[in-house]
Amino acid sequence: MNRFEVIRTQFEQNGIDALLVESPTNRRYLTDFTGTAGAVLLTSEDAFFITDFRYVEQAKSQCEGFKVVQHGGAMSAEIKKILDSHNVKSLGFEKAYTSFQTYQLYQETFDAELVPVAGIVENLRLFKSESELKTIKKASEIADAAFSHILTYIKAGVREREVAHELEFFMREQGAESSSFDIIVASGERGARPHGVASDKKIEKGDLITMDFGAYYKGYCSDITRTVALGEPSEELRHIYDTVLSAQLKAVEQIKAGMTGIEADEIAREMINGKGYEGHFGHGLGHGLGMEVHEEPRLSPKGNLVLEPGMVVTVEPGVYIPGKGGVRIEDDIVITEDGNERLTTSDKDLKIIEA
Ligand code: GLY
Ligand code: MN
Ligand code: MN
Repeated sequence: MNRFEVIRTQFEQNGIDALLVESPTNRRYLTDFTGTAGAVLLTSEDAFFITDFRYVEQAKSQCEGFKVVQHGGAMSAEIKKILDSHNVKSLGFEKAYTSFQTYQLYQETFDAELVPVAGIVENLRLFKSESELKTIKKASEIADAAFSHILTYIKAGVREREVAHELEFFMREQGAESSSFDIIVASGERGARPHGVASDKKIEKGDLITMDFGAYYKGYCSDITRTVALGEPSEELRHIYDTVLSAQLKAVEQIKAGMTGIEADEIAREMINGKGYEGHFGHGLGHGLGMEVHEEPRLSPKGNLVLEPGMVVTVEPGVYIPGKGGVRIEDDIVITEDGNERLTTSDKDLKIIEA
């Protein structure tokens, strides 16, 4: 079954006879359309892509299998015409994306009943195809190469922001469209902030430096974190590093299909708590990764979904001590039939850069 057929099998249980998809990520997933305006309308027979003059030619070349329709006035008016001519009585719309204002407009415009739906496209996106995996692998390779490069760039006096810019510049040079999120560079005491976006702080001797970054490549993300030291770190910071590394290695070694996100999270959490850092690993172990940097499934105390082959997740334990600093180590893995395969492959032994 292709993606459209799978989606149509869910029409009945959702009580709909057509589905409107407008969220940019789901829209790109279904169409390969890279523009910024347009809607997918799937009826039980047809697939329409409705867009305006600026994107019609692009849509015709990118949206294979779609009837491309241009709207001159309001897009809702063009959608209504299709709904009426295809006798659509119940239209599913993405409740997590559609604004209340748009919902009101659709209510005023369409005769069809509006049915809020969730997860129809996202459930397909959980399982990465061979070609998606190839793209995520390439995004991961770019991030790995950027890590090797940045080790030659970091020195005392360099600002966190400069490190972030260098990482992004390097990844773009390697073919990334952009960074997959705002790059985190958190050094010294700032390392205690799990999401400390790069600041003007200068990196100093004795600092641990946590760098969390990824490449956005052909619509897919990678997401890697490495923590390195400038000069010898204190014994305490070294102990934190060794703890996080052991937890990360153990989780990567043990995560496999059939486990829930809760069970995966527990592997690392148990080890970190056992070493005396209970309360200092205040986020989940990881998250799904694909067209979005954070997607399902979640590896966390709330992650009920069962892991299955083809899912891509991050594994990123961390320990954060206010006033002292922090460590996080993150890899991207794909769940396989007999375990998992690492997509980011950068070395994880503590790198001590000469100060
Ligand atoms: N960059 C945020 C994260 O690793 O989830
Ligand atoms: Mn990350
Ligand atoms: Mn992550």
